[in-house]
Amino acid sequence: MTAPARTRIGRVRRVRRVRRPPVSVTRSARRLRDPSVRRSVALLRAFLREQRDPERCYSLLARDAADQVEAYGGPVRGRTVVDVGGGGGYFTREFRRRGAHAYLFEPDVRELGPEPAEGTVLADGYLLPLADGAADVCFSSNVLEHVADPATFLSELVRVTRPGGLIYVSFTNWFSPWGGHEWAPWHYLGAERARARYLRRTGRAAKHTLGENLFAVHIGPTLRQVRARDDVTVVAARSRYWPFLARTVVKVPVLREFATWNLLLVLRRCPA
Ligand SMILES: C[S@@+](CC[C@H](N)C(=O)[O-])C[C@H]1O[C@@H](n2cnc3c(N)ncnc32)[C@H](O)[C@@H]1O
Repeated sequence: MTAPARTRIGRVRRVRRVRRPPVSVTRSARRLRDPSVRRSVALLRAFLREQRDPERCYSLLARDAADQVEAYGGPVRGRTVVDVGGGGGYFTREFRRRGAHAYLFEPDVRELGPEPAEGTVLADGYLLPLADGAADVCFSSNVLEHVADPATFLSELVRVTRPGGLIYVSFTNWFSPWGGHEWAPWHYLGAERARARYLRRTGRAAKHTLGENLFAVHIGPTLRQVRARDDVTVVAARSRYWPFLARTVVKVPVLREFATWNLLLVLRRCPA
């Protein structure tokens, strides 16, 4: 409580103090409209500072992705959310912050960071230690391009999602300007050349090697694959980060491979 202040003529005046949350809180609580230019600019800025400030970058991305999940599937509070290939756990923490029972499944202990979230499970997304239909929401951000067999990986996500539940999958496709990850955009000249250039320029071996932990996943074939399935319906197929025409860009063959950047697929598991 703020103490009442005395005016010059001696009467007690109630001081009305407008309590403003700190700037960082205001910023983090503000929901950026999706899609919108402001949101895309905020995400881009965070990406550009990813190396210097990963906390800020991934926390923003996690809030943004959780907003998307809730926009398509309703509040996650009280729901079971599994985050497959969740790396440092930012998404799992955000879902928990919103009241979900969220669990991180990650096969690579090095990706977990120094303080893995409680209940983290070391597990491969091809073979999740979960019963059929255990999850209300199955979430996998930027993992599909890191698995050799995306169709089998997707089938496992569908298996662990309950009928009527939501599956959120996003990935950076190969012909995206960011398709080569740390060696982008030189992947357009070939992966080997791009990796070699990265080593020359930075003096460090690149984290990703095509065919080992990064795979050329394309939008057209992935869309055909999910549309051909009889156990899911496609709720949305759109660019994850684009500020406008997010759905339209995905409808144009060839162009979509270059202009989508990152494909977001929201699927609903069909009733049994
Ligand atoms: C680019 S990181 C994405 C991390 C996090 N989901 C995000 O969006 O920031 C790719 C993650 O996929 C994980 N991954 C690779 N192969 C996987 C598999 N077979 N099953 C589950 N996760 C896998 C990696 O260990 C890594 O944590």
